[in-house]
Parts: sequence; C-alpha cells; structure tokens
Amino acid sequence: MAAIQVTGLVKRYGEVTAVDGVSLRIEEGEVFALLGPNGAGKTTTVEILEGHRAPTSGEISVLGFRPDKGGRDYRERIGIVLQEGSVERDLTVREALDIYGGMYPKRRSTGELIDLVGLGEKAGARIKTLSGGQQRRLELALGLVGDPDLIFLDEPTTGFDPSARRQAWGILENLTALGKTILLTTHYMDEAQHLADRIAVIARGRIIAEGTPETIGGRADGRTLVRFALPTGVTPEQLPVAGAVVSDGTVTVEASSPTRTLHDLTSWAVSRGLELEHLEVDRPSLEDVYLELTGDG
Ligand SMILES: Nc1ncnc2c1ncn2[C@@H]1O[C@H](COP(=O)(O)OP(=O)(O)O)[C@@H](O)[C@H]1O
Ligand SMILES: [Mg+2]
Repeated sequence: MAAIQVTGLVKRYGEVTAVDGVSLRIEEGEVFALLGPNGAGKTTTVEILEGHRAPTSGEISVLGFRPDKGGRDYRERIGIVLQEGSVERDLTVREALDIYGGMYPKRRSTGELIDLVGLGEKAGARIKTLSGGQQRRLELALGLVGDPDLIFLDEPTTGFDPSARRQAWGILENLTALGKTILLTTHYMDEAQHLADRIAVIARGRIIAEGTPETIGGRADGRTLVRFALPTGVTPEQLPVAGAVVSDGTVTVEASSPTRTLHDLTSWAVSRGLELEHLEVDRPSLEDVYLELTGDG
C-alpha cells in the first residue's frame, strides 16, 4: 500500500506558483528524497503533506488521510522534525522527551530515543547547554517520540559541518532500519544518494526526474563520460574528439562509443608524447544528472 499518494498537487501564493502539478507515490517503508535547489517547492510540498498548509488543488492521501482534515488521529501517526527548535530550553534532554512523549497514546521510550540519536552522555543536561548538532539530534528524537509510521524531515542536515552530517546520516540510517516510511528533502545530492531508496528531483515546482539513485535521469542507460585534464599547451579545438566540454581545465566527453573515443584520444596523446592526466571513464554521477536537469550546470 502507498503511504503517500499525491496527484496533481498545486500550491499558489498570489502570483507565485510554488508547487506546479506534483504527483508522487511513496510506498510504506520507503525512504524517499525530494531533491532540489532552494525555492524549488520542497518545504511547501512537505508542509501540505503534514497538514500545515492547504493545497490550492490536487488529490492527496497520506496514510489514508487527507492531511488538512486528518486532525489528531492523523497527527499521532506522523513525526515532524522541525527546522528550528521550539522546545523549552531549561528542560533536560530526558525531561523534554518524557513530557512530549506523554502527549502520545503510543510512544517510544525515552531511553530508547536517547540511544537512537546518541545523546546518552547528555540525557541529564539542560537543552540550552547542548551544541547545535546535539540540539538537532534532540529535535530528531522529539520527532520520533510518538513512534510515528511516517516521518517528515525537511533538510535535516542543512548548515551542518561535514562531520556533523556524517553523524546525522548514521542516525538517519538507524531510523531507516526501523522500517519507517521517511520523506526527506535535501539540496545535497550525496545525501539523497546515501540515504534514499528513491529520489524525485524537483525544480520550479515540478518533478523533473524520478528513480533510484542508480537509475535516475538515465544514469543506467549506458551513457559514458570520459574525463581528463586538458594537457598543458593544448587548446580545446586541438582535441581529436567531437563534443568535448572544457571546464576548469577538465575535459569531459560524452562517448556513445567509448572504445572508439578512448582509442582516438589515447593514440593522439601517445603520438604527441602527451600524458592524459586524471583520465577516467565513468557513467554520469548523480551530480552530473542533477546539474543537467536543474539547469544549474
Ligand atoms: N508563505 C509564502 N508566501 C509566498 N511565497 C511563498 C511562501 N512560501 C514559499 N513561497 C515561495 O514558494 C516557492 C517555493 O518555496 P519553498 O517550498 O520554501 O521551496 P524550498 O523548500 O524547495 O526551498 C519559492 O518561490 C518561495 O519564495
Ligand atoms: Mg525548504
């Protein structure tokens, strides 16, 4: 059964169309990433699914509810991790989890949540004494306190330094192992690739590609990219292949016949005594696909 089914979702703010006909189906137990640049419509989509904003039009079913009409029965089954903390900062970590947990009929124990997000050493510490990364972890624990079936995470690691991000990913992986349905938004390609079972790329309010991290945007269609550093003293026009793109001294060629392209390149280089530094042959990375799709490249 689908946990989330959306058809033709539109949200307008006056003249601005923030979400422009989005359709999605997310299965139970799936980790789904909505990947897109700032202003793409990610937060608007998620807030409509949470029931915090009303759609302009479109059909939405989340866990069998229409979110803005689901009321308490709906809210008890979803977990929302807020972008900014809204918890009383004089409470300790344990107290905050106990108090929030008391509001749910079904709940995950405080001790288990503290372990899940790795705050064991800080269980008795006041929230205001926690580092930024620790506060985000507490917010994540608070989002899980009602043992939700479905969890919304809006840009869970934006603003984190690389090591805090790695830690957060570890925690999110623990979550995915619990078998929950997760909808996360991100503008980091590597985050979507690392965490998600399926990705939809959104730009200007529309889904422009959808698939697994391996197949999205035709990554599995046998396209091959050949890359190397432009040798010193060589101009792009002198290269023996058509369609080469040079950026920051790196040449990229999309090869429909890679054997032929490599032969042309390497025989040309050898005959001139040139080395093709950093030579690599690869299929397009998710980053290549994303930049192509969103037109930011
Ligand atoms: N309350 C609002 N009023 C008017 N415009 C809004 C409002 N919220 C979002 N928008 C506009 O809708 C578009 C999508 O925003 P948003 O959903 O926040 O994108 P994202 O989360 O992908 O960065 C943007 O152009 C944004 O400026
Ligand atoms: Mg946003």
